[in-house]
Amino acid sequence: MAKDPGRVLIFDTTLRDGEQSPGASLNLEEKLAIAMQLGRLGVDVIEAGFPFASPGDFSAVQRIAEQVGGNQGPTICGLARASRSDIKACAEAVSPAPRKRIHTFIATSDIHLEHKLRKSRADVLKIVPEMVSYARSLVDDIEFSCEDAGRSDPDFLYQVIESAITAGAGTINIPDTVGYATPAEFGALIAGINKNVPNINEAVLSVHGHNDLGLAVANFLEAVKNGARQLECTINGIGERAGNAALEELVMGLHVRRTYFNPFFGRDVDNPTPLTAVRTEEITKTSRLVSNLTGMVVQPNKAIVGANAFAHESGIHQDGVLKNRLTYEIVDAKTVGLADNRISLGKLSGRSAVRARFEELGYDLSREDLNEAFARFKDLADRKRDITDRDLEAIVSEQVQQPEARFQLCFVQVSCGSSLRPTATVTLADQDGHEETAVALGTGPVDAVCRALNSLACEPNELVEFSVKSVTEGIDAMGEVTIRLRRESKLYSGHSADTDVVVAAAQAFVNALNRLVAGQKNLPIHPQRDSVESEARPSI
Ligand code: KIV
Ligand code: ZN
Repeated sequence: MAKDPGRVLIFDTTLRDGEQSPGASLNLEEKLAIAMQLGRLGVDVIEAGFPFASPGDFSAVQRIAEQVGGNQGPTICGLARASRSDIKACAEAVSPAPRKRIHTFIATSDIHLEHKLRKSRADVLKIVPEMVSYARSLVDDIEFSCEDAGRSDPDFLYQVIESAITAGAGTINIPDTVGYATPAEFGALIAGINKNVPNINEAVLSVHGHNDLGLAVANFLEAVKNGARQLECTINGIGERAGNAALEELVMGLHVRRTYFNPFFGRDVDNPTPLTAVRTEEITKTSRLVSNLTGMVVQPNKAIVGANAFAHESGIHQDGVLKNRLTYEIVDAKTVGLADNRISLGKLSGRSAVRARFEELGYDLSREDLNEAFARFKDLADRKRDITDRDLEAIVSEQVQQPEARFQLCFVQVSCGSSLRPTATVTLADQDGHEETAVALGTGPVDAVCRALNSLACEPNELVEFSVKSVTEGIDAMGEVTIRLRRESKLYSGHSADTDVVVAAAQAFVNALNRLVAGQKNLPIHPQRDSVESEARPSI
């Protein structure tokens, strides 16, 4: 890879750093669905996971490498700590992809060296070339990250980077791991690396950053001006703590302000060639899919993908927008795929019309999946007059949550009202199809449903979040419910959509319970918090 690809490479880490968000864990089918959508979005690299974490994480990276990374598709990357066993597992997991990458890292700040790694700078300078060349002996495309680069001594950083490039790293990533940098500082850090690392022309400079001070996107754009050509980001900005730099904000920043950024790429100001390869019309759909599957609700005022991002609520704005859109709008909603929610289908639509619309939306469903989606469509069409694209997206994202389910919701009925005590009757089936029914009273209908389900599941938990929003407008709209449960300080989320919000709540609760049960069996290693020495390799 040339040092300057002439544009910005988008490295998506939704499935790795994004999945490290509390409660955002995804099952294999969900990861695959997101990876496929990232492929449609046109990202350059998908960091599919941390294969050494657990057998489940290994299989997910392997399946994505098999099914998503085609010859023209994105590079499939796995994360590995600077240890032989991590790197070996990573190489095996990404091996089916025609374009594959190992991303290995070690911390370089004194605070991490002393308190986390308990290693000296000299130790790090020995480990880096050893591990990078080992990785390079297995896979050609190697990325190396200096964890906590933002707080590292620049002179030490230069030495580490030089040795990683000499050992075969083609991409050098500079993470602001704790989101501490300000834009000017981060830009200067990148400029310093470009100036002081003798062999820097042999690698692409990449940045990774967290949003603890809300500055991640601003820091990245400053890094681009100083020569960074790969941006590591996540959909909706999800990730550890306050999250990562948001892909949609970076891409649209570079898109809308192309004339400002063009000169930093040696281009004429008015050069119309996009600065990223992302298909911006896929942004909204990708955002919704990630939000639905991770249970990480997008705040309404979130830039680019928030529900209010394109809404012109105030009278003055509406008047201005009607006269000329440009008075108050810098992004045309269509550019991010937020077309008018056009009514596509109804009760009388047949299977082929439904399949054709799914295909137009980018969902290439197997025969089995289409059968299931069509049955759900028919069921919804009985209750809702017009089925929109958003309803179809809700149907698909609902479906991928189902596999490996321990509990199945069979029946839910609630009676409530101003003079009734909310009472829920629910029936739950286990994996063997054995059904049990329970009745419970609650402070409200949802509380009653959750109590009844808990009495059957016997999986201790605490409900920490319950949110409802409508998928589309109108009185018959589907309601989307997101639920988050806590057990022993770990969060598990569940999501569901239905025209009846109590049914959606019951299903979301069952989905969260299923994740909780799966999460108890699968306790993955954390790539940044768990030390290399203390971990035996899980059997794969
Ligand atoms: O934040 C960070 O430093 C990371 C590295 C593993 C790249 O996520
Ligand atoms: Zn990170």
